[in-house]
Amino acid sequence: MLLRADSISKVYERRGREFPALNQTDFSLEEGCLCVVQGRSGSGKTTLLNILSGILAPTSGSVFLDQADMYAMNDSELSRLRGENFGIIPQGESAVSALTVLENVLLPASVFTKEDAFIERAQDLLDRMRIGKLSSVLPRELSGGEMRRMAIARALIRDPKVVFADEPTSDLDDANTREVFGILKETARSGKAVLVVSHEKCVPEYADIVYRMEGGSLNRCV
Ligand SMILES: Nc1ncnc2c1ncn2[C@@H]1O[C@H](COP(=O)(O)OP(=O)(O)OP(=O)(O)O)[C@@H](O)[C@H]1O
Ligand SMILES: [Mg+2]
Repeated sequence: MLLRADSISKVYERRGREFPALNQTDFSLEEGCLCVVQGRSGSGKTTLLNILSGILAPTSGSVFLDQADMYAMNDSELSRLRGENFGIIPQGESAVSALTVLENVLLPASVFTKEDAFIERAQDLLDRMRIGKLSSVLPRELSGGEMRRMAIARALIRDPKVVFADEPTSDLDDANTREVFGILKETARSGKAVLVVSHEKCVPEYADIVYRMEGGSLNRCV
């Protein structure tokens, strides 16, 4: 199994009071699989995604990528593991407004590596996302759908093993939603593990596995 979580949970502390957001949960994800997590607002979907993607330490439990215990690592080891293995499309707006589309896509590649080596790949990805001609414009000059496709290109720039997408189609119309899901499905078929948080009606047509999050508990539906 590529990604595995054993008995993870999360209790947030808010104004001195504890708030359990994720109950003890086991989870696994393999290469080639498009997995979707659905559920109401506040049910714990982003919390789960952030723990699995190495952004948020769980209160208890462990997460393994291949055999590596992610939260047993120090910060720099974990951020290296994230950069090399994970492509992340966060919830909401995530473009850096002062950078061009191409520079945004190159951003994850500029942290540990010489980004020049990635320029051709970035341009190829933008072409694949049908925004190749827009590489030198600023994000504010893009439509919502184009912006989401730019975020996908950015997530794929370092050829990650796992792609995490938190509501990647939340503000898109049906045609753009289907296009984004089509790209995510293709990404899974190319051998990556893809985990998506989404409420869209079309999810069952694309997903291999569907879970529902309810009050911090994850239940498999498909
Ligand atoms: N940093 C935090 N500190 C305290 N409580 C938090 C924090 N982040 C989230 N929560 C709470 O934990 C619960 C789960 O939040 P989470 O963001 O995981 O929900 P979600 O299912 O992604 O919701 P949405 O669909 O609205 O994005 C919510 O009740 C939220 O208020
Ligand atoms: Mg969320």
